[in-house]
Amino acid sequence: MSKNKIEELKKIKEEALKGGGSDRIEAQHKRGKLTARERIDLLLDEESFQETDMFVRHQSSDFGLDKQRYYTDGVVTGTGKIDGRAVCVFSQDFTILGGSLAEYYAKKIVKIMELALKIGVPIIGINDSGGARIQEGVLSLAGYADIFLRNTLASGVVPQISAIVGPCAGGAVYSPAITDFIFMVDKISHMFITGPNVIKAVTNEEVTFDELGGAHTHGTKSGVSHFTCDNEIECFQKIRKLISYIPSNNLDDPPRYEHNEQEEKDLDELNSFVPDNSNKPYDMKELISKIIDDDSFFEVHKEYAENIIVGFGRIAGRSIGIIANQPLVLAGVLCLNSSIKGARFIRFCDAFNIPLLVLEDVPGFLPGTDQEWRGIIRSGAKLLYAFCEATVPKITVIVRKAYGGAYDVMNSKHVRGDINLAWPSAEIAVMGAKGAVEIIFKNEIKKAKDKKKALDEKVKEFTEKFANPYLAAERGFIDDIIEPKDTRKSLIKYYELIENKVDSNPSKKHGNIPL
Ligand code: HXC
Repeated sequence: MSKNKIEELKKIKEEALKGGGSDRIEAQHKRGKLTARERIDLLLDEESFQETDMFVRHQSSDFGLDKQRYYTDGVVTGTGKIDGRAVCVFSQDFTILGGSLAEYYAKKIVKIMELALKIGVPIIGINDSGGARIQEGVLSLAGYADIFLRNTLASGVVPQISAIVGPCAGGAVYSPAITDFIFMVDKISHMFITGPNVIKAVTNEEVTFDELGGAHTHGTKSGVSHFTCDNEIECFQKIRKLISYIPSNNLDDPPRYEHNEQEEKDLDELNSFVPDNSNKPYDMKELISKIIDDDSFFEVHKEYAENIIVGFGRIAGRSIGIIANQPLVLAGVLCLNSSIKGARFIRFCDAFNIPLLVLEDVPGFLPGTDQEWRGIIRSGAKLLYAFCEATVPKITVIVRKAYGGAYDVMNSKHVRGDINLAWPSAEIAVMGAKGAVEIIFKNEIKKAKDKKKALDEKVKEFTEKFANPYLAAERGFIDDIIEPKDTRKSLIKYYELIENKVDSNPSKKHGNIPL
């Protein structure tokens, strides 16, 4: 082969690596953003990236596009490794036509997504784009729809992860929205259906880009984003960490890490962990960190609906998905948002063979017209449905309260909990003692001379009878009542025991989760 041919190849590749050129790269850095390729370098193991479709260019000549035919067409695609495991990646290049999505650009994304599906590896999308390439009109819209379809087909087959590191607006938001996890970065990420100007024109509301669709807004108010990061470095490190808990596809098991049984921790202090006064809160995250492997908790949706905690962890090196009520926030009650948060996480874990651990301390569902009118019935049903449907190994530990419908919902024995444990501090009843007594002894208390005394006596009687785990254990609804200090030891044994459990749902096209 002539030397010229090699030189030609090198020249094209050099040009492609320059993206939209040095001025636009400088402008990108001035916006506080990294380039598409710098991001890929941060995400993947060193030198593992293999680019695909670098030579692709658009075929349009409208509105002067024929003079702007950049290699890659504005999106860098390829494969690489994270901790030695293969992944597929696309990274939108804002320096080329604002990272705008058009016909060939979309074809590249579809192609890398289809490769991910075929070889069974996660697909990670890095989003930084001005949206549909205006000059290519409906071809751009068609491209989005092609991607939405692939997102949907890939859902539950390979993990899909989105980093939003720039604008992501209009219908473009729906691709990340279908993926399993969204990461956003403070100050540089924005997601919205219609921007501040349109909102001002239509509703007369004034709102900034950040207030409307910044990382904190979506991490706290809407729950659209699962992880809020201070900067891009943190964002890509967190994506790498997430990958360490999850399998490459739905037929694979999550990675297993080494565990040294000799180094088991002493957890005697757990026997006095729960306060004597059952209305006193405690931090469930403290309990989580004590019973799982050291430093293994990786929280999802940390700032959203904080009355429920969801996240990944490890027990003796095995990945688990943790769903726990948080007594520190709204007494750990289940509400509309926390139900949806829990349900989505459970469904991810179930789709990807990640066993579940439920740590329960729940006084019930949140009362109020706001919750009722916004559909707590439907949302609570999502959580219930998700637990009922899940066939991965499922363990529940009732730490304290398990009241009313929430007892059933939170992976009770009745909805196929495999192992249901309780601490002696567990209170399993239809409702709290005071509420119950006020209903069933209403007349008796009304007639009593000293009403307060009568109420207190009945509350005491009710508490002694029902606020414990023994009635449930007598009926086999609880498999064992354990000393809190033995929780980790039990979990290690039980997860090993049930790791290969076989369970399935009736054959169907798909269920109809109450959306
Ligand atoms: C073509 C675009 C573009 C687009 C930006 N550019 N968006 N080119 N199509 N959609 C180009 C700009 O012309 C500019 O080119 C370069 O990208 C950088 O843009 P700037 O405006 O200089 O950057 P900045 O000030 O940071 O503002 C970024 C921005 C703004 C907020 C994204 O560019 C913007 O508002 N763009 C339009 C967004 C939009 O309305 N998109 C369509 C949404 S509808 P030069 O050559 O100067 O570098 C949509 C529908 C999807 O996406 C439907 C799916 C179902």
